[in-house]
Amino acid sequence: MNQKDNIRIGLFGFGTVGQGIYSVIGRARNAHAEIKRICVRDVCKPRKVACDPGLLTDKASDLLDDPEIDLIVELIDDADASYQIVTSALRRGKPVVSGNKAMIAAHLPELIELQRETGTALLYDASSCGSIPVIRNLEEYYDNDLLLEVKGILNGSSNYILSQVFDHGRDYDSALARAQELGFAESDPSRDIDGIDSLFKLIIITVHALGVYVAPSEIFTYGIRTIKDCDIRYAREKRVKIKLVAQVVKVSESEFTMFVMPEFVVKSRYIYSVDDEYNGVVIRGECYDRQFMFGKGAGSLPTASSILSDVTARHYGYRYEYKKMGYAGRPAYTTDILLRVYLRSTGSQDIIGSLPFEKIHERYTSASCNYVIGDIRLSELIRHRRALSSPDIFLCNISRFFEEE
Ligand code: HSE
Repeated sequence: MNQKDNIRIGLFGFGTVGQGIYSVIGRARNAHAEIKRICVRDVCKPRKVACDPGLLTDKASDLLDDPEIDLIVELIDDADASYQIVTSALRRGKPVVSGNKAMIAAHLPELIELQRETGTALLYDASSCGSIPVIRNLEEYYDNDLLLEVKGILNGSSNYILSQVFDHGRDYDSALARAQELGFAESDPSRDIDGIDSLFKLIIITVHALGVYVAPSEIFTYGIRTIKDCDIRYAREKRVKIKLVAQVVKVSESEFTMFVMPEFVVKSRYIYSVDDEYNGVVIRGECYDRQFMFGKGAGSLPTASSILSDVTARHYGYRYEYKKMGYAGRPAYTTDILLRVYLRSTGSQDIIGSLPFEKIHERYTSASCNYVIGDIRLSELIRHRRALSSPDIFLCNISRFFEEE
């Protein structure tokens, strides 16, 4: 292919994923793309992947104002700076590929509007589930009313930690440190372990699954930070695994719910076998029941593969159309649903007793650990989220949607 036909990329960020895309584009014979300039905070910083120093700059305008740059690839960590770069590029008519889930989850309605106003495209398959092509599939293949549920493991780091602790007897802190060394974890790993990273991805997925945007603050999000040996022992006794699961589920013709929470996963479920940094997404719908997508959800090269796919998609002018946002009878978000949960407390305060369970199925009390299995409304979990964030408490969903039906 003639070099002139290549997409000329201005790359923001040369960290784990930025270096990955640089390597991948360098060796892909049919990428139809070349990296023309790389904007970084510190041009002198030593990096694992060496690049031509002439490509580096610390001035955003060197990329944004260069008429020879056709596409911005934005892979920086800072969500506010990412927002500035992405909106500036779109306003200049430059399409953008971004992996910044925090920024996209916070600003998606405005970014959709900006794409409409400017006629420019923003692609972000890499923002959700690393190498698994979730977004474009939801947008194109599942472009109909049949979809009922998207549920899965969307965060590689927390899954890696749970696998290491659960299956390999490793301690939590050393598993987290290893996830950081391997380049899976966020620069602030509390986003991984507190479920925030999964939440961002779930919000983006929901826009493409059901055509509805729900803001982060409205969604119940619970992570794995407070898991203890007694929870792992309990799960082992019951022959289930604990996974951090994000889900959006249609609960009726007119309503859907969504939340992020650890879950006891039974062996017969697809996600039971999703271990380490892998992600797994189950899509359930009318007519086809369940389909399962599995792949590496974090790390330099897996995420770079997804960026490459978006770059290549731009070569033929691909853009998201957000068709489902215009569907008749879009479902409304509800938190008025009943969940069955395991709630364990190792503290002296009676948090369990203070929660409005509608039914208790099992109760265990000992000197070191108390737990209940009970039914409680999602809206009540949201109302009590402060108490539930105590380090003495661990909450785990016991999936019952449709499993009992
Ligand atoms: N920290 C994220 C994860 C990176 O562990 O899944 C990929 O989004």
